[in-house]
Amino acid sequence: MTMKFIVKTYGCQMNVADSELIISILQKSGFSSTDKIEEADIIIFNTCSVRENAESRVIGRISNEVSRKTTNKDLLIGIVGCMAQRLGDELKKINKKIDFIVGVDQYSKLPEIIEVSRQKVAVETTFNTTEIYENLFPTRSNNLNAFVTIMRGCNNFCTYCIVPYTRGRERSRSVTEIYNEIEQAGREGLKDVTLLGQNVNSYLYIDYPENISQRALNSYNYQLDEMPMGERYDFADLLRKVNEIKDIKRLRFITSHPKDLSDKLINTMAECDKVCEHIHLPLQSGNNEVLQKMNRNYTIDHYMSLIHKLRSAMPNIAITTDIIAGFPGETEEQFDQTLQIVRAVQFDFAFMFKYSERSGTKACDFPDTVPEKVRLERLQRLIDLQTEITTLKYKQRIGNIEEVYVECQSKRESREMSGKTRDFKITVFEGDDSLIGKFVNVKITDAVGWTLKGEIVQCET
Ligand code: SAH
Ligand code: SF4
Ligand code: F3S
Repeated sequence: MTMKFIVKTYGCQMNVADSELIISILQKSGFSSTDKIEEADIIIFNTCSVRENAESRVIGRISNEVSRKTTNKDLLIGIVGCMAQRLGDELKKINKKIDFIVGVDQYSKLPEIIEVSRQKVAVETTFNTTEIYENLFPTRSNNLNAFVTIMRGCNNFCTYCIVPYTRGRERSRSVTEIYNEIEQAGREGLKDVTLLGQNVNSYLYIDYPENISQRALNSYNYQLDEMPMGERYDFADLLRKVNEIKDIKRLRFITSHPKDLSDKLINTMAECDKVCEHIHLPLQSGNNEVLQKMNRNYTIDHYMSLIHKLRSAMPNIAITTDIIAGFPGETEEQFDQTLQIVRAVQFDFAFMFKYSERSGTKACDFPDTVPEKVRLERLQRLIDLQTEITTLKYKQRIGNIEEVYVECQSKRESREMSGKTRDFKITVFEGDDSLIGKFVNVKITDAVGWTLKGEIVQCET
């Protein structure tokens, strides 16, 4: 009888994409995937470590699910992803019912590790600096949107961030592999593609002559002048290339680091018809001193010049961001500058966080930590301001006709369908299931919270 497994995914889109890889790896080895947890023989948690509450949520969920072992003695519980990578063996102490712990570069070994874990707890968290999961087509978790990893790891070491420690160093996948994966997704009917990397702007792939091992070379951090000769593809080149794929209608990417967002990329975005009018450009703080302590390597002037260039090249571009409130040493005045920049930029949307200590990161040892109460209070002020701006931005859309990619039934109202505009705004309108996967033109009649409401004026033919 085939063993059934379920993957529960936490964290960022990178983990969503990794879960699709895991499903593909296990299916190839004869396991079958289920979406009913009560049917599963193996429950896998793909976890996130980015903030403390991301970890505590998953620890709580694991302790709920291990109780299933009382009725199903053979049930296996596995932890993979960033928390598995960060904590490794320690997780065994946190919950004694865990059967296997596998880090982000070891998913190809999952079938064997699962076998071993029937006898004893199996832990495999070795980093593999060249692992990019070549020649693996992920099993897509939906048939509308494809998340395609173009690079793994991060070299930036922002001082608050755990990701470089859980994901290892940067390595880019080959243009051909990415192209083929997207082409296949397009053939399968997925029309919306998001290219993924912790910092897509530092994507670099060099197509070396055949006699040199490409995989090895692309995994090393060569100084640019030491690079062997070969055809070079930066992120803008990659974007232009995948823009040619005919079955794909929309292209997006996350995340762009402001220090590496080039004029070439901005022009490429403007010129490529499939690249949507949306960019996620994390600000983190509105104060230069804080940015420096965060090791972000840009100034506010630079950030504002990018906003200006983006809006000049694409007047309707939606700009979203990430901001942290209460970084160590952040003064009231410095936080106030963040509010000022938020007012000046007028982001369409922002993910806002209170600073969370991550052990092992540099900022964790910084003095003058901001008291929890102040962090929360600043976060609330930030959220209030951004909510006002978002509401205004959304209301400005009333009267427009927007192209919407229909994705699902609306959660609130079964007669309503929900989809996204090119600039990533959720839009609901009256319609039925037959519209899922189609592009429709919707006249916007209202904006409620972070949702546009409207009525269909034209369906895809
Ligand atoms: N590579 C992406 C995403 C990183 S994680 C980037 O560079 O933008 C997503 C967001 O989580 C970050 O942009 C940051 O705003 C937030 N974040 C990361 N570490 C954090 C921490 N220790 N405390 C609070 N927020 C954090
Ligand atoms: Fe973290 Fe900075 Fe890397 Fe983003 S760029 S993953 S915030 S270290
Ligand atoms: Fe979390 Fe790892 Fe993504 S820490 S945000 S799942 S890269």
